Amino acid sequence: MLSFWITFLFGGNTMRDNKQLFNDWASSYDDSVKKSDQNNTYPFAGYSLIQEMIYKKIVTVPNLKILEMGIGTGRMTFKLYNSGYEITGVDSSSKMIEKSKILMPLNKYINKDFLKVLPELNGIKYDVIIFAYSIHHLMPINQKYLLDMLSNNLNPYGCIIIGDVMTRTSSELDSLAIENSGIWDEEEFYPTLEDYNNKVIKQFYDVEFTKVSFCSGIMTLRKKTNKKGDNDDK
Ligand SMILES: C[S@@+](CC[C@H](N)C(=O)[O-])C[C@H]1O[C@@H](n2cnc3c(N)ncnc32)[C@H](O)[C@@H]1O
Repeated sequence: MLSFWITFLFGGNTMRDNKQLFNDWASSYDDSVKKSDQNNTYPFAGYSLIQEMIYKKIVTVPNLKILEMGIGTGRMTFKLYNSGYEITGVDSSSKMIEKSKILMPLNKYINKDFLKVLPELNGIKYDVIIFAYSIHHLMPINQKYLLDMLSNNLNPYGCIIIGDVMTRTSSELDSLAIENSGIWDEEEFYPTLEDYNNKVIKQFYDVEFTKVSFCSGIMTLRKKTNKKGDNDDK
């Protein structure tokens, strides 16, 4: 995927002001998700399945400490909150956080950009870090940077779960973009298993991929035991 390589090599920030976008979208965001999921259309087809799958992955183990990056209105982790999990939510949109606080008042919230929140998380370890439809707002080079850094915030047997618009290969993602060309969001950088395995998370994590809908999936990242990934670069 050409756009991946251009952005991977040259990096930079997205041109769109996502903070403003989500502040404006906060009041109708849940309806947008529901409609797209129910109609099985890009981008949220499979959202409720992803929600259920993430819940089931986590709920078998009690007392896990969860960090949700891009918590939004709180839809993704609401059931986990009701099951008693301790959740910290990071989001750059204060309006999205306001909505989440109504659902999950006892969460800890950090109203900051992903790339600025790391000092605040310094030394804190989580069992699960969730990105649900949120990491795609970062350029691939920043996705890599953030995931590399967050390996310091994971307990040894912890994992990062990414639920998003996602495909196994870059060419599948390109086909998806063509099939949805009228509504495809060119300013979002969706993960593919191929790119993550080859470039993004190669050094620190092993990855497991599950396809969920025609346009979505879940990746689970677990820390490599050999953190330097010495053998992988050979
Ligand atoms: C599509 S919404 C997903 C919200 C929620 N996780 C869900 O499952 O519905 C993306 C969320 O990520 C937040 N976000 C986007 N870019 C961000 C960034 N660079 N730093 C922090 N939050 C960001 C947005 O404000 C928004 O709440």
